[in-house]
Amino acid sequence: MKFHTLKVKDITKETLDTITVHLKQPLFSKIKYKAGQFLTVVVPIEGKSVRRAYSLSSAPNIDETLSITIKRVENGLVSNYVNDHLKVDDKMEIIEPMGNFFVEPDKNLARHIVLFGAGSGITPLMSIAKSILAFEPKSIVSLVYGNRNSNTIIFKSKIEEMQKKYGERFNVVHVLSQAENDWVGYKGRIDKTIAINVLNLLPKFDKDKTEYFICGPEGMTKEVENALKNLQVPKERIHHESFISSASSEAKEEAKKGGSSTEREITILLDNEEYRVKVSDKKTILEAGLDAGLDMPYSCQSGLCTACRGRRKSGEIKMDEDEGLSALEIKDGYILACVSHPLTDDVVIEIG
Ligand SMILES: Cc1cc2nc3c(=O)[nH]c(=O)nc-3n(C[C@H](O)[C@H](O)[C@H](O)COP(=O)(O)OP(=O)(O)OC[C@H]3O[C@@H](n4cnc5c(N)ncnc54)[C@H](O)[C@@H]3O)c2cc1C
Ligand code: FES
Repeated sequence: MKFHTLKVKDITKETLDTITVHLKQPLFSKIKYKAGQFLTVVVPIEGKSVRRAYSLSSAPNIDETLSITIKRVENGLVSNYVNDHLKVDDKMEIIEPMGNFFVEPDKNLARHIVLFGAGSGITPLMSIAKSILAFEPKSIVSLVYGNRNSNTIIFKSKIEEMQKKYGERFNVVHVLSQAENDWVGYKGRIDKTIAINVLNLLPKFDKDKTEYFICGPEGMTKEVENALKNLQVPKERIHHESFISSASSEAKEEAKKGGSSTEREITILLDNEEYRVKVSDKKTILEAGLDAGLDMPYSCQSGLCTACRGRRKSGEIKMDEDEGLSALEIKDGYILACVSHPLTDDVVIEIG
């Protein structure tokens, strides 16, 4: 993993609870990324170094800065810290961009990129839309974007600007769950019915050349995927990114509800040292290791980037999700510590 320290060039207030942080690229050897990827910020808070992933809302070869757009999460540590304290000219430590949710524009392609997003899920979609519209002149983009009301639409004026600039090549459908009285567009959350209605209204394009990108809460993603299944869209043409691992948050919620909590003592092998670490069922192996002061590698904390990959030497482990690993890696005993929980006391994991 490559770390960089970048200067905050500018901060844009997007809505009441969302800012975009524009980070200055290094003078030499610019940081490369693909439209749709995320970077990880490393922020010192309360004596700890905390990491969180943020998708780039800027687009490569279009925007000068690396820009990330951060929406406050209730009681969230980093999102509120950054919104409250970050200033122009501050330094920010980041881990270089990564992720598998991206497009690589090709000027010879003619395709329809359909984007479904809600709330802060717009960030990678914005980067993808900008890239495709600028670098694939024969392609078109459709954006279906869900928000609470018109004041919470992130990038509202930027989207309008792009509609003016690209005309029929950029179709936008807003869906508002708590719309103002004079709102004439779609009302409600993006569910299967709304998704099917909207999909049927989008410009007709060669079905085999249409790709779908979904980024938002797990509920919306499932509804849109069901709609696409209904319309017989093959899975290979559907891509999704989740900002929050639903399985792990459900597991945490379950654990919080109480009942008896289990704690297991496991062994972590890291940098040729052996550590005994207690892991409660409220924590992942990564969280327990970090709490114990181990310098464990990690980035996204969502089972996506594989920075926290380790190998199980013994014992039983449950992973909340395993999308970041191949079937072969799973068979070979690889695990992602950020989404793993020990099921037995004899767990030994080698990190790295
Ligand atoms: C690949 C990836 C890309 C991301 N891109 C963006 C982005 O572009 N913009 C952005 O604002 N965020 C993005 N996130 C989410 C971001 O990483 C943080 O999770 C989010 O900012 C909350 O961090 P926090 O420290 O404020 O909250 P924490 O202190 O970590 O969490 C506080 C509570 O909020 C819940 N929570 C955490 N994240 C969310 C969420 N997104 N929505 C609702 N509840 C949540 C937690 O379960 C916890 O209960 C992305 C996440 C991933 C994995
Ligand atoms: S920290 Fe990214 S997969 Fe675990």
